[in-house]
Amino acid sequence: MDFAKIFKNNEEWIASKLKSNPDYFKELSKGQTPEVLYIGCSDSRVTAEDLMGAMPGEVFIHRNVANMVISIDLNAMSVINYAVRHLKVKHIIICGHYECGGVKASLQQSDLGILNPWLRNIRDVYRIHKDELNAIANEQDRFDRLVELNVQEQAINVIKTAVVQEAYRDRGITVSGWVFNIRTGKLIDLNIDFPKVLEDIMQIYRLI
Ligand code: CO
Repeated sequence: MDFAKIFKNNEEWIASKLKSNPDYFKELSKGQTPEVLYIGCSDSRVTAEDLMGAMPGEVFIHRNVANMVISIDLNAMSVINYAVRHLKVKHIIICGHYECGGVKASLQQSDLGILNPWLRNIRDVYRIHKDELNAIANEQDRFDRLVELNVQEQAINVIKTAVVQEAYRDRGITVSGWVFNIRTGKLIDLNIDFPKVLEDIMQIYRLI
């Protein structure tokens, strides 16, 4: 990685932006009103804005290992709180990806130190969906399905939060689960029926 090249790239990027709009950075500095909160994996191959064709200012982004939404993770919870309550995003997307190293690690018997408690949450996803996953004979297919189910469970974790329940009631915020197929580049909508999921779990998780 050539740092000098990075700074040169930056100069070229500035020039190209100013060429199409001389006030580009002046406008950008005024503030942000993104409609979407994207929670994805930190994986260097899964470049959120790039794969969505999103422009600066359009998407509020949080990335961590295996796109997790853990209730005691102050970082993720702060991002959700800020995006929903202050930026008033209309949509929240959880985006996982096939060949996710974090999900793969959770399928293996190995002591990964500080990653153990983090990945334990993915093992919990496996446990919840054990019957379905164990019925899949092909290892790759089982791995892919765990990626999808992890997205589903993390999206459910999003709707377990009070801010999202409040925004759902007051202004109909939506939550979606997507998977980026790193083998083809295709973005897949898992089409999870969140109003139904919400109805199913609210008996237990209702906060407001
Ligand atoms: Co990943």
